[in-house]
Amino acid sequence: MDHLTIVTHPLVQHKLTLMRDRDTSTAVFRQLLREISQLLAYEVTRELPMTTKRIDTPVQPMDAPTLAGRKMALVSILRAGNGLLDGILELVPSARVGFVGLYRDEETLQPVQYYFKAPEQLEDRLVIAVDPMLATGNSSAAAVDLLKAKGATNIRFLCLLAAPEGVARMKEAHPDVPIVTAALDERLNENGYIVPGLGDAGDRMFGTK
Ligand code: URA
Repeated sequence: MDHLTIVTHPLVQHKLTLMRDRDTSTAVFRQLLREISQLLAYEVTRELPMTTKRIDTPVQPMDAPTLAGRKMALVSILRAGNGLLDGILELVPSARVGFVGLYRDEETLQPVQYYFKAPEQLEDRLVIAVDPMLATGNSSAAAVDLLKAKGATNIRFLCLLAAPEGVARMKEAHPDVPIVTAALDERLNENGYIVPGLGDAGDRMFGTK
């Protein structure tokens, strides 16, 4: 998979425009995120390994395609990652789930871990880390560090919007981790927001300020 994949599908782009609009309500934003997460998940899982299993259709036996290997692991980067997670879990209900919680130390500006729980045997799984906004890339890179330290070798990063700064940071820190996103925006502003972006994804999906 390329280091950066932008999902240009018309449905994804249409839904993303609705999500960017400041007049879109929390309820609609949440629903759109759920829908778009499934379209993005379709793309990020495109090359999953397959095998076949013998089944009987009502007409005759056949060797039918089925997913191979261990269940994938979805890892939500708290808290906004949970919005992507919910939709993907509807599509891949048997996925294992982990969570990474990071906050930014106000003095060093570096991400500090406050929570980390991941499924066992990460080394045998496709691991998809999810966070809607790839902004500076600092917390995303730190989350991937944690997953690699726990054994993951096959990691993909799924987001809704990416800033060039975040993509560059991830490419430098983790060139082996492909990124799938709905759009690559212009830049970060002085407050660390993606421009034009959609604002604070967590606030918009949870109705906080
Ligand atoms: N996180 C957000 O929620 N929005 C941004 O624009 C950047 C980081």
